[in-house]
Amino acid sequence: MTKVLVATDKPFAKEAVMKIEEAVKSAGLEIALLEKYSSKAELLEAVKDANALIVRSDIVDREVIEAATELKIVVRAGAGYDNLDLEACTEKGIVAMNTPGQNSNAVGELVLGMMVFMARNGFNGASGTELRGKKIGIHAYGNVGQYVATIAKGFGMEVYAFDPFVAKEVIEKAGITPIDTVEELYSTCDYVSLHIPATPQTKESINYDLLTKMPKGGVLVNTARKEVIHEAEILKVMADRPDFVYISDIAPDNKAEFEANYKGRFFFTPKKMGAQTEEANVNAGVAAANQIVGFFKNGDETFRVNK
Ligand code: 3PG
Repeated sequence: MTKVLVATDKPFAKEAVMKIEEAVKSAGLEIALLEKYSSKAELLEAVKDANALIVRSDIVDREVIEAATELKIVVRAGAGYDNLDLEACTEKGIVAMNTPGQNSNAVGELVLGMMVFMARNGFNGASGTELRGKKIGIHAYGNVGQYVATIAKGFGMEVYAFDPFVAKEVIEKAGITPIDTVEELYSTCDYVSLHIPATPQTKESINYDLLTKMPKGGVLVNTARKEVIHEAEILKVMADRPDFVYISDIAPDNKAEFEANYKGRFFFTPKKMGAQTEEANVNAGVAAANQIVGFFKNGDETFRVNK
């Protein structure tokens, strides 16, 4: 029987697990669950006889791929697939997929939620600021960026977007002002919300030069990946610009330095939680299960991300 392993260090909501099970079993496939595993060895053992694998941000590197000798397909239940070794998948003839858009609303809501939290001084009762009338720049107008833009408009913010891969007309049609260069996005906007993927090209691309272009009181919101931030340089921004605020859904490696020196000017979630809602878990998890079923039943490779 074809075995689908759901391996999630950060477990899906119970409801999502039930629905994934339903989707897998009703297609006549078998399911196994590995949650909150404490070591990579556990994952290596569990993947041995799996024909399909569903993961979240779990690291599926060459070692995992090589241990998974029966694997035909791995689906990252989510958008970013920087945790999958695509080259190793391709070499072993394994199809790799993501489930784009399925968890985007959850991330979008968290962006605005964290912005309000910081604008109101962590809800400490001191007088804060409002989002209405402020300018927000969407750095990459993909699925999450689109949700952020829509919600930000609801708050009465002026919305701008920079995305060299999206036609200006598409952005304009959504009532958003397209911006030609990344530098202009940062120099224009009070808030910038980051939605670029982590790739060799984007790694550490959010640096001192870019961030210091932001107007006084500039706020960077990062729900993308910590790897895209130049950590040494953002610390220099924090030091040189006492008005600058950094919000991130996942703490940077140099979190201790923020805690020691910049209290009240940063907020980091304790664990990446942008997509951690019951709805997002159900959407992404069930999509992953259905994509696996479609792959085994009909050879459907929609959402394949490797060659
Ligand atoms: C994604 O890329 O979809 C998000 O970063 C969510 O990641 P998670 O499934 O680990 O919460």
